[in-house]
Amino acid sequence: MTAQERLNGIRDHALAQLHQATSLDEIVAWEREFLGAKGELTGFLRGLGALPAEERPIAGRAGNSLKMELTAAWESRHAEFAAAVLERRLAEDAVDVTLPGRLPRLGAAHPVSQMIDELSEIFALLGFQTVLGPEIETSRYNFDLLNIPSDHPARDVWDTIHVDLPGEIVLRTHTSPMQARVMEQTEPPVRVVVPGRTYRYEAQDASHEWMFHQLEGLAVDRNITMADLKGTLAELARQLFGPERRIRFRCDFFPFVEPGVDFAVDCAICGGRGCRVCKGTGWLEMGGAGMVHPNVLRNVGYDPERYSGFAFGLGIERMVMMRSGVDDLRAFAGNDLRFLRQFARAA
Ligand code: FA5
Repeated sequence: MTAQERLNGIRDHALAQLHQATSLDEIVAWEREFLGAKGELTGFLRGLGALPAEERPIAGRAGNSLKMELTAAWESRHAEFAAAVLERRLAEDAVDVTLPGRLPRLGAAHPVSQMIDELSEIFALLGFQTVLGPEIETSRYNFDLLNIPSDHPARDVWDTIHVDLPGEIVLRTHTSPMQARVMEQTEPPVRVVVPGRTYRYEAQDASHEWMFHQLEGLAVDRNITMADLKGTLAELARQLFGPERRIRFRCDFFPFVEPGVDFAVDCAICGGRGCRVCKGTGWLEMGGAGMVHPNVLRNVGYDPERYSGFAFGLGIERMVMMRSGVDDLRAFAGNDLRFLRQFARAA
């Protein structure tokens, strides 16, 4: 067989195979077979040296031109297949941008936070500014400045969680320490509300938590009277529970007010006749209040002959319980989404 005949054989075989290839893998394998180091054509070119000297240049040229022809043929087939593969992949991976999106599940404010916002708005309309204070307090602010000296039995009432052993640092047992902090920083007139967390070393039950929220109110000016306190709390009760509501004051003792009262609102569910929510009494307890004690005014450098004021403190969880008929206070910190979702409002 002449060199040209061998080359023709390689050419026919290679081109036939190339046209029969049906996948990119086959095309890649074809290159290895026909153009690779162990391929037929490479073997032919390597064997040129064994040919008679006069045939060598012709056979060499013919071999190289076949190599170029096959390479060109391979490149164009390879490009065809590569384009087809790319097209198929693009078609498969296509994203249908007209599909409706999946809505992320939105969170909502906690019912206690909602109540804090609502209370702040109500009090803003009555001229009270909302301020925040530290949850880790000194006993000076939590007790001493509020007329509760360290040796006084009244201090035992507060079921305090102490942070250090001498008892100088405490988790605030109420929001009242902010009364002293605000008055120390400002001159009258003062009108603030202070929402926030409070802590007590207390056994948990359906109406007691060791961590809960209060809202403190404080107004100090010339000629503030018990009537101002009553009017403010009556307005609060009406805004929260409806325009018909009435409030009740009963004598109570808090060392930082004189006189001191507990205040309640008549039950909106039964109109005061007595029901399950108000436990048959017709009244719902909201918190403690009173006229700021002259000793407290003196402790912060105010002259009790010139200024008078009222203060109140209410439990925020209890407000939500009264309004929404929640019967267990532990639900607020229980993190049960079935409970919390009932309060979710569209933002
Ligand atoms: C006080 O904490 C006073 N600082 C309130 C006050 C302020 C009186 C200003 C006068 C002037 P008392 O301990 O009663 O008071 O708590 C007030 C409210 O906090 C209660 O009516 C109740 O709603 C809520 N509360 C008290 N203890 C708990 C508790 N363990 N769990 C949930 N809520 C509580």
